[in-house]
Amino acid sequence: MNKITIAIDGHSSTGKSTLAKQLAKALHYIYIDTGAMYRAVTYYALENGFISENHFDKEALINHLDDIHISFTYNPDLDFAEVYLNGKNIEKFIRQMKVSNFVSEVATLPEVREKLVAQQQEIGMEKGVVMDGRDIGSVVFPDAELKIFMTASPEVRAQRRYDEMLSKGQKVNFDKVLENVMKRDRIDSGRSASPLRKVDDAVEIDNSKLTREEQFDKVLKLAKERISKSNQY
Ligand code: DC
Repeated sequence: MNKITIAIDGHSSTGKSTLAKQLAKALHYIYIDTGAMYRAVTYYALENGFISENHFDKEALINHLDDIHISFTYNPDLDFAEVYLNGKNIEKFIRQMKVSNFVSEVATLPEVREKLVAQQQEIGMEKGVVMDGRDIGSVVFPDAELKIFMTASPEVRAQRRYDEMLSKGQKVNFDKVLENVMKRDRIDSGRSASPLRKVDDAVEIDNSKLTREEQFDKVLKLAKERISKSNQY
């Protein structure tokens, strides 16, 4: 049975990773959260003082890119692969506001993108992968058999992120979360290096009004169709 590549792109907090995880589990594919990789680089830059409140030393980060080693290790208790930076599990740090506030800036750097895209392509070389991000269908795997583009209104997305942070016991302010969601949309879609865009062959899913189950059923059906098509040749 041939395996396919599934690319899931879209705006932040559209539930890409939830859908990608569900799909990977149902199909016994590998799931890779590429946003976690950009977050890991941002965390590294913060930890090393390359980013402070009002200054981002891009040169320093670029000069240290070879010192950044990102990996994923499956955690059976949580049932997903956690992200490691130079051997340290940083999963619980990368979703904090501090990282969220700077990650889009970091993701504008072509040098960072080049490094991470190369690693992503290597991970997905054998197919059987569900990858989520912003440029998966456009740059990382332009030949992916199934491309999904997910979107939802900024308010719905901010509410989701707000609820997620609250459930993790983090102190948050809804307006700040909404502001962050809108700011990231602007940067992600407006940057010159691989901006977020829906490619022509992607299936768009606006999940403002879809339940998780409805969305999953829809995409799983599509995935099964594409898998059976790829096995006809
Ligand atoms: O999916 P996320 O919110 O964890 O992504 C964090 C940031 O990383 C987001 O602002 C855009 C960037 N990103 C990207 O530019 N390309 C990707 N493939 C994944 C994420």
